[in-house]
Amino acid sequence: MFTLFCILFIINAYTEAEHFSFHDRLSHTDPDGTLEIIGGKTAFPHWLGYQAGIKIEQNEGSVLFCGGSLITPSYILTAAHCLNSVYSLEVILGAHNISKKERTQLIIEPKNYTIHPDWNPELLINDIALIKLPKPVKIGLSKRTVRLPKDDKKNYAGQKGIVSGWGITKYNQTISNVLEYAKSIILSNEECKKIHPFDRVIQDTHLCLSGAGRISSCQGDSGGPLVVKGVQVGIVSFSMKKCNTTTPSVFTRVSKYLKWIREISDL
Ligand SMILES: *[C@@H]1O[C@H](CO)[C@@H](O)[C@H](O)[C@H]1NC(C)=O
Ligand SMILES: *[C@@H]1O[C@H](CO)[C@@H](O)[C@H](O)[C@H]1NC(C)=O
Ligand SMILES: *[C@@H]1O[C@H](CO)[C@@H](O)[C@H](O)[C@H]1NC(C)=O
Ligand SMILES: *[C@@H]1O[C@H](CO)[C@@H](O)[C@H](O)[C@H]1NC(C)=O
Repeated sequence: MFTLFCILFIINAYTEAEHFSFHDRLSHTDPDGTLEIIGGKTAFPHWLGYQAGIKIEQNEGSVLFCGGSLITPSYILTAAHCLNSVYSLEVILGAHNISKKERTQLIIEPKNYTIHPDWNPELLINDIALIKLPKPVKIGLSKRTVRLPKDDKKNYAGQKGIVSGWGITKYNQTISNVLEYAKSIILSNEECKKIHPFDRVIQDTHLCLSGAGRISSCQGDSGGPLVVKGVQVGIVSFSMKKCNTTTPSVFTRVSKYLKWIREISDL
């Protein structure tokens, strides 16, 4: 009875979309205009050369913007919820100011992607997907792969993570033109459950980043990387609506998906 209530509560929370927000989705009204990495700094150009931007043209005609990361010369790691309804995809690598035509930019139109088979938008679990690039990209200063954890031994609690993104949601929206990043502390899942209003959503396959210091990832950062000492430990998944910085942002815990990533990609 109790469990069922909790599940219903979660589903309600999601469908009503009152409190929850996937980061790629612009809320209907956003008077605050908080559409970027909150409390973030401009990244030194190409310092985070693994960062990808992804434009998703959806079947209904709307265009979303998500983040991703280059994990091998042929694969981009991102969030499953970014690829809900794909008509066409465009991946941008080597960008700093995404609104500009920069010489370092490489724009690719991939045809193949794989969403985790157990992705569940109601329970917000397994929010992970891979995009296959038509041919391997040439690795250089502005386009680099990010390392993934070797195994699932560390939980990263107490470590500083760097989350990055352009924080824009629509093709033509240019709220943060240049790549931004923010540093914050990773919480243990126990700590996170204590302070997160949707504590029952948080599973072992999630990872929380503290909002202390008024840091939050926000819309348009979805699918982007959270990196600890050069290793990608998280994929931006969800947070509270309006990018509330008092609650932690929640990420897909990459170390729980190494087997799946190796199975699908050439990692
Ligand atoms: C990014 O490029 C656009 C288009 O050229 C320009 O209008 C904007 O000022 C640039 N942003 C920054 C922060 O340089
Ligand atoms: C997409 O995947 C299919 C099946 O694995 C493969 O036959 C095809 O060549 C791939 N297309 C591209 C553009 O990589
Ligand atoms: C983006 O803006 C330009 C100029 O305002 C317009 O021509 C173009 O159609 C827009 N593209 C999209 C996808 O909205
Ligand atoms: C942020 O979320 C907390 C609950 O976690 C709530 O008390 C607070 O009012 C929210 N702030 C805003 C600005 O919505």
